[in-house]
Amino acid sequence: MATGREFTLNTGAKLPAVGLGTWQSSEDEVYNAVMTALQAGYRHIDSAFAYGNESAVGRALKASGVPREEIFLTTKLWSTYHTRVAEGLAASLNNLGVDYLDLYLMHWPVAMNPNGNHPLFPTRTDGSRDLVSGSEWDFTKTYSDMQKLLDTGKVKAIGVSNFSIVNLKELLSAPTTTIVPAVNQVELHPYNPQPALISFCAQKGVHVTGYSPLGSTAAPLQEEAIIQSIASKTGTTPAQVLISWAVARGTSVVPKSVTPNRIVSNFNDFVLSKADVAAIDEISKVTRRRMVTPNWGVTIFHDEE
Ligand SMILES: NC(=O)c1ccc[n+]([C@@H]2O[C@H](COP(=O)([O-])OP(=O)(O)OC[C@H]3O[C@@H](n4cnc5c(N)ncnc54)[C@H](OP(=O)(O)O)[C@@H]3O)[C@@H](O)[C@H]2O)c1
Repeated sequence: MATGREFTLNTGAKLPAVGLGTWQSSEDEVYNAVMTALQAGYRHIDSAFAYGNESAVGRALKASGVPREEIFLTTKLWSTYHTRVAEGLAASLNNLGVDYLDLYLMHWPVAMNPNGNHPLFPTRTDGSRDLVSGSEWDFTKTYSDMQKLLDTGKVKAIGVSNFSIVNLKELLSAPTTTIVPAVNQVELHPYNPQPALISFCAQKGVHVTGYSPLGSTAAPLQEEAIIQSIASKTGTTPAQVLISWAVARGTSVVPKSVTPNRIVSNFNDFVLSKADVAAIDEISKVTRRRMVTPNWGVTIFHDEE
């Protein structure tokens, strides 16, 4: 049974603990997934311009009949829009067919050439990503422009994604930063639990949302023996255990599925015992691994610092 837990952001808004992820879902798949999720009681949808399926997400939001104000809708500014933030927002609002977002995240702390050889992944002649960086641009400028969006009413909260402690410190100490990000969305699961980042964000009032909670494509974490044994002991699924572990740590979570029965069962998080949470915490002592590691050509995660 879904616990219906919520987290309160530094804006005062409530964020449902379990939302639907939409990465690597085709337009048809995501349309059906969002419809199924909203019927099952989900009220938090995680989208992104770069997933290429915002318009299908938007069509499903409308077709579901669920009032817009009951849904917490997140999308993300793509890196080729860092130097034209208002344009990025306009494109996402238009795709989604909505007047406002509940949360707009900077997808990655890296700006890419808006006029390069590809609209999403421009490259240089040597094949490396075509970044706008150095004295030309940095993510504090992007964030400064995102702050201005709040005054338009088209965005209720702003935040970041894939921000390490190093980059958060740089962002928070920038003279142009006047608003603490509401959320930092990062990769979190038992192979990559990032306790230092979670505690740093808590100290600064930044809520953390975990992505790839099942270990991303094909959900490899469900094969872990401890996850399976807790699932069988509690009469739940491995995915429900992983999702419930995330919520027990004070993080919201956005599992992706396009399979109706999985979408429904993933929403049924439960309260894990402290002992089970601690047992799952042990997994990273044996296996530490990130699943989402695009080669940006610059350091993103600062895992060694
Ligand atoms: N901010 C970022 O940079 C970033 C990066 C990555 C992800 N995200 C967000 O986080 C979301 C979740 O992460 P993710 O998509 O990487 O991976 P995930 O949610 O950890 O795992 C998705 C995979 O698990 C499968 N699955 C889902 N529920 C299952 C269940 N109950 N039993 C067995 N398998 C199950 C899905 O298959 P089916 O779909 O075939 O059912 C899919 O293959 C994304 O969709 C996206 O919204 C954000």
